[in-house]
Amino acid sequence: MTRRILVLPGDGIGPEITAQAVRVLEACQKLGLDAEIEQSLVGGSAYDVHGVPLPDETLDKARNADAILLGAVGGPKWDRIEDLSKRPEKGLLGLRKELGLFGNLRPAILYPQLADASSLKPEIVSGLDIMIVRELTGGIYFGQPRGIEERDGQRVGFNTYVYSESEIERIGRVAFEMARKRNKKLCSVDKANVLEVTILWREVMDRLAAEYPDVELSHMYVDNAAMQLVRAPKQFDVVVTGNMFGDILSDAAAMLTGSIGMLPSASLNERGQGMYEPCHGSAPDIAGQNLANPLATILSVAMMLRYSLNEPQLAERIEAAVGKVLDDGLRTADIASEGKRRVSTVEMGDAVLAALS
Ligand code: NAD
Ligand code: IPM
Ligand code: MN
Repeated sequence: MTRRILVLPGDGIGPEITAQAVRVLEACQKLGLDAEIEQSLVGGSAYDVHGVPLPDETLDKARNADAILLGAVGGPKWDRIEDLSKRPEKGLLGLRKELGLFGNLRPAILYPQLADASSLKPEIVSGLDIMIVRELTGGIYFGQPRGIEERDGQRVGFNTYVYSESEIERIGRVAFEMARKRNKKLCSVDKANVLEVTILWREVMDRLAAEYPDVELSHMYVDNAAMQLVRAPKQFDVVVTGNMFGDILSDAAAMLTGSIGMLPSASLNERGQGMYEPCHGSAPDIAGQNLANPLATILSVAMMLRYSLNEPQLAERIEAAVGKVLDDGLRTADIASEGKRRVSTVEMGDAVLAALS
């Protein structure tokens, strides 16, 4: 059966990095992947053409796709749009919400070749393999009420941090199942010493733990978790947390692997449909310069093949190709180190393609 893949390049470095990932997808087609690839607009590039960051046409195509590959959205060009609902980031948040993509997997894996690119000592990070499971369609990102309004002669900004038991339970199940397939350790990160919503979060995780006696559940406050991630990251196997804590902790974890340009992600719904994107943003400071690292996006294609397209062997081939390119000493600027060959975005794509064939 022909699978449908929708590619949404987005803004900033988005088009540059997705172009390399699409070449990898095309190579997979030659290796037997039965898929058709379509493109559409999202984010600031959609706003410029249609006046909205998530046009109906893009949402319709996304609903009908088996998997979506997204580059990144946003940038200074659109940061002053007053109507928040028109900002590029709302295009991405809208896709996540409309498609019900509540389960965000962000694997922080250190390729051994990059031990010297990490800002931490090699012995602290070597062998690192953490899976951050971030809740993606709830929490303070989506809670109501929210806004900025006049109160007692001054403006007040407010958001609501809310999770229902069922929302906590379904992300908890994703995390417990993930831990079961890995080293059977799950750390739930919250702020249950201060916030009621995470007292409930902790209770639900404890309740679920009874159903997964083979998984060792622990709890950690988010401030300590941030510290532990840079102190001794290898203590973690699977981490489960809410939307905002997961956003922040996954950027920190990215740096353990050498660069945010290395961290892929999968965002899954209950039907197994998924959106795949690098964890990083549109990197306006290097956009259009052929400098960005495309590997996070290419590794996101591997996650797509594994989690939505049932092609684990092709996924492994891509991951092996990335390993080979790093073995050969090729490095984009963000992971550059002495004695290695500095390459551009396109050259990195060329090398991955060559290693794939
Ligand atoms: P960012 O991740 O875009 O950039 C942070 C730093 O990391 C920059 O110095 C950038 O050059 C570097 N970087 C990021 N990706 C890289 C790559 N592939 N290769 C080499 N270097 C890379 O974060 P930011 O600067 O806070 O945000 C910029 C814009 O991106 C904002 O508009 C933000 O809203 C948006 N954003 C989008 C997403 C997304 O689409 N998923 C994620 C994060 C931020
Ligand atoms: C991410 C990004 C997004 C988020 C923004 C752009 C809405 O930072 O995917 O990590 O906060 O989820
Ligand atoms: Mn983020």
